[in-house]
Amino acid sequence: MGFRLWALGFRLYAKRESLSENRKAKNVNIILIMNESAKIFDQIVDKRRAYREFDTNFDLPDFVVKNSLERAIKSPSSSNMQLWEFYRIKSKEGIKEVAEICLNQPGAKTASEIVIFVARPDLWRERQKVHLKRLEKVETKNVKNKLFGSSELSYFSTVIPQFYNPTLPCIRDLVKHIYVWSKSRKGAFMQDVYSKHIPIVTQKSVALAAQTFMLSISAEGYDSLPMEGLDSKLMKKYLKLPKSAEINMAIAVGKGMPDGLRGARFRLPYDDVVYEI
Ligand SMILES: Cc1cc2nc3c(=O)[nH]c(=O)nc-3n(C[C@H](O)[C@H](O)[C@H](O)COP(=O)(O)O)c2cc1C
Repeated sequence: MGFRLWALGFRLYAKRESLSENRKAKNVNIILIMNESAKIFDQIVDKRRAYREFDTNFDLPDFVVKNSLERAIKSPSSSNMQLWEFYRIKSKEGIKEVAEICLNQPGAKTASEIVIFVARPDLWRERQKVHLKRLEKVETKNVKNKLFGSSELSYFSTVIPQFYNPTLPCIRDLVKHIYVWSKSRKGAFMQDVYSKHIPIVTQKSVALAAQTFMLSISAEGYDSLPMEGLDSKLMKKYLKLPKSAEINMAIAVGKGMPDGLRGARFRLPYDDVVYEI
């Protein structure tokens, strides 16, 4: 029995080793066939690390953050609603105040600039109006599917309010439950449509913009630190935001100090988190 278990264990170990050898060989091939832009992208991704300390004797050129926010704005967003805002904290006094709100994290205190990424689900009506105006001019193709109804125009005029309108959430959710239940009986149907999903959907898109921003900062040759360790109540007060706005994260930007890194990058191996089905 003991020997059998040992043999099984050894076989599993050998299988895993040969899988990882295969993967190593595959990686070598991938590097060989990688095109130039993929190689550059690799460098940008590898260079982006969470820096906990920045060089305070350094002036960050304004265009670094400006260009990076321009790129962040190109990120995808749910229904292209772009329910986001970005607040640039550039002055020394501003950084001092915001660093306090970020619990005095050294990365915030030493940053050249801090950008606050904010989710604004409450701006859905404004964004809806912009889309309806855009669609007045554009001839849209009639896209018929379960979600869009008959056209992009009807999507923005009827589906968007059904999802984002926050009034009477209990009644709305009850009606939606019945509707989703009846539709689901006929096949796959969107399930995450209730009022509790509004912040999730909005925050997801803002986080994508945050990642584009950080990769861009890395591409520009500088460093960043994403921070959710902050007092969101105080941050909203400082930015004069309404209750319905949500802080996504603050991102400190600057020239990273070598000591600002907490050791080598640690990630779980590919095989532990990727499933091929
Ligand atoms: C949403 C989010 C919030 C984070 N908040 C903080 C934070 O408040 N303070 C901090 O030092 N690091 C923060 N981090 C950084 C992570 O700890 C870091 O990304 C992780 O340890 C991996 O390190 P790497 O980014 O250098 O690969 C945050 C990261 C993310 C994605």
